[in-house]
Amino acid sequence: MPVASGPDRIVKTKGSDLLRDLDLTDAELGCLLDLAAAVKRSPEDYTRALAGKSIALLFEKPSLRTRLTFELAIKQLGGDSIFVEAPIGVREPLKDVARNLDRWVNGIVARVFSQATIDALAEWSSVPVINALSDLFHPCQALADMQTVRERFGELRGLKLAFIGDGNNVAHSLMLSSLRLGMDFALGCPAGYSPNPDIVAQAERLAGAVGASLAIVHEPAEALRGAHAVYTDVWASMGQEQEAAIRRRAFHPYQVNDSLFALARPDAIFMHCLPAKRGEEVADSVMECGRSAVFDQAENRLHAQKALLLMML
Ligand code: CP
Ligand code: NVA
Repeated sequence: MPVASGPDRIVKTKGSDLLRDLDLTDAELGCLLDLAAAVKRSPEDYTRALAGKSIALLFEKPSLRTRLTFELAIKQLGGDSIFVEAPIGVREPLKDVARNLDRWVNGIVARVFSQATIDALAEWSSVPVINALSDLFHPCQALADMQTVRERFGELRGLKLAFIGDGNNVAHSLMLSSLRLGMDFALGCPAGYSPNPDIVAQAERLAGAVGASLAIVHEPAEALRGAHAVYTDVWASMGQEQEAAIRRRAFHPYQVNDSLFALARPDAIFMHCLPAKRGEEVADSVMECGRSAVFDQAENRLHAQKALLLMML
């Protein structure tokens, strides 16, 4: 493998799928972050790595970043991709879709409404399946985000990430990924919008194992105290559009504006997975400020997913 500037060798993932963040072992996650930095530095070293390989992108929901960065990553690694936007398992049973695809392609990247859909795709197909967002997780986003924080601060262990807003898919993935890398994680959300209790229980175990702290609070100031990175996401995720008005009322005090952002450390960065609703979860002034890392995050989707594909395929 021509990796002059990168790791000596690319560690192949043990499990065949990335359905949830913890499917990667600690060692695989560490390798992935190093490899993502290497492919970002020297993309020319990896241009044939996926030669002869084809990957299907099956999306039940819209996407800008995830679709484009996967398509570009596959192309820049020398592979081919085919994109389909359609509900999975409606025209024909999901188990048939999965067993057709694995006769044609070397991997499946899927964005789904329900985690159960991607779990079933993985169960029925023999090729690696990557979760490109479900109702519960957004692991590819968290990989790029960890890369971004590490670039900004040079390390992760001992830093604090504060997530202000809905205890949603992005919050779940960030919670699991940041804690296992030794970061403290605090989530400030309105009552009734806390993260999934099973995922919080997993996160508590991770925090205990690495000696990091986890806090789920309803007071944004408490979550923000001492934070190196302040993260938010839309108040109504895809599929929750009918709840948007109720959510706007509940989340109003949680908008990351200049006064809320000022409660974090003076050198804190602002993060958002995008797309953002300016004037709702974030003020335009925060999105556009010098400490906003949102476009670095978007760029790193490309590099982190290249690393993931190199390890999984
Ligand atoms: N952050 C993210 O996943 O963006 P898209 O929905 O545009 O893919
Ligand atoms: N929580 C958002 C993330 C979009 C990238 C959603 O699921 O719509």
